[in-house]
Amino acid sequence: MRFEIGTAAAIAAAWAPLVNAAPQGAEPAAPNNFWEARGREGSYTFTSMTSTRYATPLPRTKPVTTYMPAASMSAIMPSGVKTTTWNKNDASASDWNNPYGQAEWNRRWATFMPNVSISTASITTTVQPTPVPSSSLIMPPPAGFSYSDGAKAKDYTFPKDFIVGAASSANQIEGAIQDEGRTPSVLDYFNFLPQASDYITDWNYYLYKEDIARLAAMGIPYYSFSISWTRILPFAAAGTPVNKEGIDHYNDLINTCLEYGVKPIVTIVHADEPYEFIMDGGNVSRAYFSTNSGAANNTFVDSYVYYSSILFSHFADRVPIWITINEPFYESGNLEGMYNFLEAHTQVYDLYKSMGGKGMMSYKNADNFGVPLDINNKDDIAATNRYQDYLLGIMSNPTWLGKDVPESVTSTCTNESRPLSPETLARYKGKSDFYAVDPYTATFVFPPDGGIDACAKDPNHSLWPNCVNTTSISENNWEIGFYSNDYPYLTPKYFRAFMNYIWETYQPKAIVVSEFGFPVYAESTAPLASQLNDLPRSLYYDAFLTEILNCIHEDGINIIGAIGWSMLDNWEFGSYDQHFGMQVVDRSTLKRYYKRSFFDFIDFFHSHGL
Ligand SMILES: *[C@@H]1O[C@H](CO)[C@@H](O)[C@H](O)[C@H]1NC(C)=O
Ligand SMILES: *[C@@H]1O[C@H](CO)[C@@H](O)[C@H](O)[C@H]1NC(C)=O
Ligand SMILES: *[C@@H]1O[C@H](CO)[C@@H](O)[C@H](O)[C@H]1NC(C)=O
Ligand SMILES: *[C@@H]1O[C@H](CO)[C@@H](O)[C@H](O)[C@H]1NC(C)=O
Ligand SMILES: *[C@@H]1O[C@H](CO)[C@@H](O)[C@H](O)[C@H]1NC(C)=O
Ligand SMILES: *[C@@H]1O[C@H](CO)[C@@H](O)[C@H](O)[C@H]1NC(C)=O
Repeated sequence: MRFEIGTAAAIAAAWAPLVNAAPQGAEPAAPNNFWEARGREGSYTFTSMTSTRYATPLPRTKPVTTYMPAASMSAIMPSGVKTTTWNKNDASASDWNNPYGQAEWNRRWATFMPNVSISTASITTTVQPTPVPSSSLIMPPPAGFSYSDGAKAKDYTFPKDFIVGAASSANQIEGAIQDEGRTPSVLDYFNFLPQASDYITDWNYYLYKEDIARLAAMGIPYYSFSISWTRILPFAAAGTPVNKEGIDHYNDLINTCLEYGVKPIVTIVHADEPYEFIMDGGNVSRAYFSTNSGAANNTFVDSYVYYSSILFSHFADRVPIWITINEPFYESGNLEGMYNFLEAHTQVYDLYKSMGGKGMMSYKNADNFGVPLDINNKDDIAATNRYQDYLLGIMSNPTWLGKDVPESVTSTCTNESRPLSPETLARYKGKSDFYAVDPYTATFVFPPDGGIDACAKDPNHSLWPNCVNTTSISENNWEIGFYSNDYPYLTPKYFRAFMNYIWETYQPKAIVVSEFGFPVYAESTAPLASQLNDLPRSLYYDAFLTEILNCIHEDGINIIGAIGWSMLDNWEFGSYDQHFGMQVVDRSTLKRYYKRSFFDFIDFFHSHGL
């Protein structure tokens, strides 16, 4: 249909029924006399548009569940492990006879990051939390519109045990990268110049108690964070000594969570693999899936299992949910790295369960959900399945289906592919308690110029090895969703389709939306008060959470949790301008402020049965 410009009389006739219609239940108005018929008082009384509701803090109840018996925790500890400390101010150490001594520790920093001066904030010890003032906890005024208004989902409720949380990761929030024995991670290295450094970021290493108190005051029941491998094991590899200060730190972090009634979700490694694994540099450039974080190093699997057993032996009694690896595809570097991740995850899962671990465990899949550019074009559909094969299938086929890595991968990355034996596949199958996925947004997929097959044969092709092209513009020139400051678009309908895709394709027992969030366009350039009134982020959460309810109630998908990224604005891999946070952090004072989206996020759950 096209709109035509009509005559004034025709337009008036078309609009007349609307202009003249009286609201239902009102006295019928005299024709053309509607405004008069309503009557006027001659005076006006203002009503309050602002809220007087407050966020509901968590009850301060200590959990009673023990997730691993003490005897198992000591049994899981590898034998002969030494525990020690290192000191960044001991530059003249000469204990070279000790491969893990202070001199070697100093050399890690000197050779990995030569001539870099690592800045610090003035706070250098753990800060006791200040109670969050109630003036910070006043709910924002109603947004005025909502994605779920009018939809059936308005009346749907979440299951009683639904996991509601906010997420962070060590390298993105901690800062203090050289303090208390830590050595460099691949992230410190890849991003140290010329991008913004991660030396301070949110200084959460010393302010974690404050951050946990703020989550509890907001009523957020789960906190998903990661542990920094190089704080626990400065020399990374199997058999190397444990850093006492790192253990003490995370012990206190977990205990602080429990003290405030917040349940910890612990990620074992989140993009910050030890630099040690790529230190000889030889294999760093072999990175055609993503950045090479050292997963392809042939010492990786044993080292990861050792590191995990150190974590379990110290923390497993108090942690209900473990994430082994964050977004493997984006950390593996290459197919060898993915094989190592599969093996490492499976060994750690088996270790945990065999020692009586009662918590849940999974790795966290990355994805922008691929959608065929033209759903009637079989080449676009083939390209989309291939896109998903790479991002999800390499790990998900073995874990959930007991099937080998997809053929679209093995027939392309031929020099690194090897068939997984039936015994190996049987061992991998079912080693995950839920399907964790980070479905931030959707993207259209189609084949490259010249087709998939030609690209797959040519490792020099710019799109090799995935060999699919992507775009955010649909065939009829509409953007896929509302835009942001970065790659996520607001794409709730595709999100629901994605949950169905995972449910059908990999048939998991349950799905946890382990990260989702939205970087509001240009937020970092706005004044503080405007940053706090982050309506697009609220709309994002409102829309995605509504679709989660639709998935549960209309599609029968067992979604058991939703964890917002992020707890607060942070270091987004070389940038402080990509704001995904539900709190602002003042970069000079380090003071935290709640944004409206945090209130709206938690309020959505409260208004849907939790
Ligand atoms: C570090 O600084 C020293 C002294 O200025 C210089 O000789 C050396 O080349 C620098 N090293 C690197 C890797 O930049
Ligand atoms: C692999 O990791 C080990 C530490 O476990 C390290 O000594 C070695 O240099 C690493 N290899 C490469 C290629 O970086
Ligand atoms: C496999 O081939 C790819 C593409 O040429 C290359 O980047 C990679 O380094 C190769 N892997 C090995 C182990 O040689
Ligand atoms: C580097 O890559 C080659 C080729 O895959 C592999 O044989 C070698 O073990 C790797 N080096 C390390 C230290 O992992
Ligand atoms: C990917 O698609 C864009 C159009 O969106 C096109 O300009 C470009 O040439 C394509 N790239 C390849 C390698 O096919
Ligand atoms: C890829 O590029 C390299 C360097 O330009 C060249 O030597 C090699 O033959 C190319 N490989 C293929 C398969 O075209």
